[in-house]
Amino acid sequence: MDDFGSPSFWEDKYKKSNYIYEWYMDLNFFFPKIENFVSSESVILNVGCGNSSLCQQLLDKGVKKITNIDVSQEILDKLQSSINEKDSVQFIKMNAKKMQFEDDTFDLIFDKGLIDSILCSKNFKKKVYKYLKEIKRVLKPNGYFFILSHSSPEQRLIYLTDSRLRWEVTTVSIPQKKFNGITRNYFLYILDPGDN
Ligand SMILES: C[S@@+](CC[C@H](N)C(=O)[O-])C[C@H]1O[C@@H](n2cnc3c(N)ncnc32)[C@H](O)[C@@H]1O
Repeated sequence: MDDFGSPSFWEDKYKKSNYIYEWYMDLNFFFPKIENFVSSESVILNVGCGNSSLCQQLLDKGVKKITNIDVSQEILDKLQSSINEKDSVQFIKMNAKKMQFEDDTFDLIFDKGLIDSILCSKNFKKKVYKYLKEIKRVLKPNGYFFILSHSSPEQRLIYLTDSRLRWEVTTVSIPQKKFNGITRNYFLYILDPGDN
């Protein structure tokens, strides 16, 4: 079985094929739900960036400081070559479960598809806790963590509301029409680190 939470799975996948894919939807479909949190001064981390258009679309909305991380150098190079303004944008090969950033670095962190991948993995319970703890460490206390996921609150809140981490979680449902005309729901989870 494929282990979507393993860095080597993604490195191999990206090396073997000329893979270009936007997971779930592009930013424009869920931006109205988060625009009040985003400003041109926001310092943003895009975890498991792949070659999604998220970074370029945030730049187009006036955001200046974006750091993209992924475990695959291959895909980071591809993403970098697709971005127009690169001055204040970073592309760093880094594991989101063990980041080399200082505590309290980012105002906003975006996860589109990464936590879903980690949860399709061996030892996923340990891995997802380590990942969420690391996100909380690098997020500023007044920051926000946005997760766009294919999975419902019944399947995700059990991890996102882990009492050891004490996130305050808001769930927003985002309907999306697929190629076959069928509408399915995706979910935006907005995590606030709260006062602790
Ligand atoms: C489902 S894809 C989503 C890609 C992109 N965010 C999008 O929306 O199209 C998951 C991405 O996370 C990356 N990834 C997997 N495990 C990771 C980890 N531990 N740290 C950082 N990136 C990781 C993969 O290489 C892959 O690019």
